Amino acid sequence: MTKPSGYSATQIGLHWIVVLLIVLQYVLHDGISAAWEAVEEGREAASGLLVPMHILGGVLISALALWRLALRARRGTPLPPAGGHPALDLVARVTHGALYLLMLLLPLTGALAWFGGVETAAGIHVVLTALLLVLAGLHVAAALFHHFVMKDGLLNRMGRPAS
Ligand code: HEM
Ligand code: HEM
Repeated sequence: MTKPSGYSATQIGLHWIVVLLIVLQYVLHDGISAAWEAVEEGREAASGLLVPMHILGGVLISALALWRLALRARRGTPLPPAGGHPALDLVARVTHGALYLLMLLLPLTGALAWFGGVETAAGIHVVLTALLLVLAGLHVAAALFHHFVMKDGLLNRMGRPAS
């Protein structure tokens, strides 16, 4: 398969919509955390919009991740930016793969906890939220390093569509 020269408009749009949804999952997690604590202590969970929003947000993130994986499989991935080191290109590939995996495992473990009452799944869910923060931090730092230190214009790849 010939490599595309960059990401399509749909891929770019999906990347940023998912970033926004993930930020909201962290900023607005208080409702689900309090509701889960109530469930664990055998109390009635307070009703409100935050719990359904957390669940809907998670379902959307996993559905959009599957769509992105399908687009990626159909189009192929652009070559790494020129001038990089093969070992670092591999780190980027592994990081992207792990980010996709987390976008699928987080909703799965969340659902197992919330709908299946599996307490271990809740514990794993919380550990995965910390892992996602670390990997997303690494990913953003790498993107900024490429763009501003290596000056290879990497950020434009998630801004300007290419065929
Ligand atoms: C990518 C999707 C998701 C992200 C990024 C996410 C993120 C988070 C975050 C940041 C917390 C708070 C963790 C903490 O206490 O430090 C949390 C808690 C929780 N989430 Fe999610 N979540 C996602 C999907 C879901 C889904 C789909 C469900 C349920 C169907 C769910 C159920 C829960 C539950 C039950 C807790 C409380 C766990 C506990 O406090 O032990 N999450 N989530
Ligand atoms: C401000 C925050 C962010 C910036 C500036 C950013 C920037 C970028 C850039 C420039 C690329 C293209 C890399 C390349 O062409 O080699 C990319 C790809 C990607 N980003 Fe982000 N990103 C951000 C946040 C996130 C977050 C929070 C996630 C969480 C899941 C994420 C997941 C991904 C994935 C999975 C790819 C690979 C796309 C693919 O090849 O299919 N990004 N990002």
